Amino acid sequence: MSIATAQNAPSIRHLVGKHVVVVGGTSGIGYCVAQASLEHGATVVVSSSSQEKVDATVSRLLKTNPLFEGSISGLSLNARDVKSIQAFWDKVGKVDHLVWTANGGRLPNFTEDDLDKDKAVFEVAFWGPVVSVKYAYKKGLFNPGASVTMTSGTVVRRPSKGFTISAAGAGAVETITRGLAVELAPIRVNTVSPGAVKTELWDSHGLTPEVQAVLIKRLVERTLVKHVGQPEEVAEAYLFLMKCTYMTGQTIDCEGGALLGA
Ligand SMILES: NC(=O)c1ccc[n+]([C@@H]2O[C@H](COP(=O)([O-])OP(=O)(O)OC[C@H]3O[C@@H](n4cnc5c(N)ncnc54)[C@H](OP(=O)(O)O)[C@@H]3O)[C@@H](O)[C@H]2O)c1
Repeated sequence: MSIATAQNAPSIRHLVGKHVVVVGGTSGIGYCVAQASLEHGATVVVSSSSQEKVDATVSRLLKTNPLFEGSISGLSLNARDVKSIQAFWDKVGKVDHLVWTANGGRLPNFTEDDLDKDKAVFEVAFWGPVVSVKYAYKKGLFNPGASVTMTSGTVVRRPSKGFTISAAGAGAVETITRGLAVELAPIRVNTVSPGAVKTELWDSHGLTPEVQAVLIKRLVERTLVKHVGQPEEVAEAYLFLMKCTYMTGQTIDCEGGALLGA
């Protein structure tokens, strides 16, 4: 049974029965995109590099709402490995919407980290979706009306010290968004650029609770909405880009007004 049951309510039925793949769906923003897509009646495949995390996520989603039964599945994909990406798509098959929120590991600090290792920042968030999209496109796996939504970050427009390399990676995602929108039309290609969002990413970057508290205070002062972003808030931007068939080649800043704030 679909969650969105009202036949006469087309604006909440755009995703009913659509097949949505969320790479990065085991955590943070991607998890919330997967959950919201299920609530909109889509069937969802969640993915990340760890099959264990994928299985745990499927169970976690089923616990939040038993109506998701039969609409949710999971399959791992290592975005650093072309063969893994290809095997993933061979198993997943046709798709209506691809959402990519995966981003691998700690953000490198330009002045302190080894630049050679920093190159890896492009592997998951940039090359991962690009290689995926090319493979799925060449195999004819995008259904009519399909969309791709990738992820960058407000650091592109408002760089902070230490984030130079990540900003460049995110900027590359925004640039290729426009290129792919032209290249793959009528498949729609967009990007969400989140501001600071409180997710598991912060823990994985080794930020202690004390450091996070200081950071949050500073970030809240910077935003106009006066709170730090929550992943479910940002997930709405991805939902909009999947649903709005007149959006392509765009990057949406979802950042609580941080680009205009102090
Ligand atoms: N949170 C923020 O403050 C913030 C701000 C600006 C931009 N962003 C961007 O928003 C996106 C989502 O952020 P988030 O906070 O939701 O991150 P997150 O909670 O850390 O989630 C990252 C996801 O990527 C997956 N992943 C990592 N390496 C992978 C690989 N090699 N192959 C496939 N999947 C992989 C992770 O699962 P596994 O570990 O199991 O692979 C996880 O599901 C990222 O692109 C991030 O840069 C976030």
